[in-house]
Amino acid sequence: HKRIGILTSGGDCAGLNAAIRAAVYRAVGTYGWEVLGIRQATHGLMSRPPNVINLNIEKVEPILTQGGTMLGTTNKGDPFAFPMSDGSVQDRSSEIIEGYRLLQLDALIGIGGDGSLAILRKLAQQGNLNLVGIPKTIDNDVGSTELSIGYHTAATIATEAIDRLHFTAASHSRVMIVEVMGRDAGHIALRSGIAGGADVILIPEIPYSLEKICDQIQERQKQGKNYCLIVVAEAVRTESGDALTTKDFHGESRLRGIGQYLADKIAACSGAETRVTVLGHVQRGGTPTMTDRVIGSAFGVAAVDLIAEEKYDRMVIWHNREVDSVPIAEAIAQYRAIDPNDILVKTARSMGICLGN
Ligand code: F6P
Repeated sequence: HKRIGILTSGGDCAGLNAAIRAAVYRAVGTYGWEVLGIRQATHGLMSRPPNVINLNIEKVEPILTQGGTMLGTTNKGDPFAFPMSDGSVQDRSSEIIEGYRLLQLDALIGIGGDGSLAILRKLAQQGNLNLVGIPKTIDNDVGSTELSIGYHTAATIATEAIDRLHFTAASHSRVMIVEVMGRDAGHIALRSGIAGGADVILIPEIPYSLEKICDQIQERQKQGKNYCLIVVAEAVRTESGDALTTKDFHGESRLRGIGQYLADKIAACSGAETRVTVLGHVQRGGTPTMTDRVIGSAFGVAAVDLIAEEKYDRMVIWHNREVDSVPIAEAIAQYRAIDPNDILVKTARSMGICLGN
């Protein structure tokens, strides 16, 4: 018999609930263990008493199709440098470790992106906790795995948005710029741009020149196509390489404004009328796609099985149509942006899509 904890950490995305549900089905249904859902990522382990919910099959049965995470999450408050209300920063890692002990957990499943998994691993090492990781992020930049939970849904939503924008762009002879998420990686932009039939795709991994983009617009005009669809990843910089960030109300630096920057520059160099759509968090919301439900379920079961075999400090991965696992450290070390030699970069270029260079 084991008692395990499960938490979601970092930004939410579609498919997290599928993973939680599958882990409970496997742990409770197959092994007869207890599963505690920890609320608000590691904050639930910091609270006294720890903020947890007992998860059974009845509770998780209906959550498969629901977006977000039933446990809540946060990407605020690195426990090693936790921002206190008086403005100071404190190391609160020992409180989390103590929370794990108070709950008498035998193991913890942490569902997170590379940042969250790195923090959880550091906690696990410091406190000798038994940790298993599940990769999630719409950015799909976690190393060692072909897919992370949430990415497929986000890229699908972006594709649907591009599909819709084609018609209004064509009706008004406009250049439509769609800014998508992805942090420093261009996976969402590249996939949705190809799938949505974009004319230009700009990703942070490939520098661009405005001249090339305007050439593409003019080339299309010569062919009698008077509109253009441009997909840009949020972390793309200005032509001269400046990052467009602003500090928000909480003092955090946020990526902001590349879509509008391009709209102004492209209008000036091509004479075209431009409009911008910033998709934002709609990419993280809503019903998970089939793929996110399937990999979420497969990851949830596999994570519990790793605990059954007492194989800790590992992260489940999707590789060659199968679930496997690697050391968490290995996954973190292999951060996965787009390689300029990626087959899909070649695919895009071969179809005449301008990648900005
Ligand atoms: O990492 C996931 C992600 O959605 C990024 O694509 C995006 O830059 C960021 O999180 C947004 O974070 P927040 O939800 O804090 O605005």
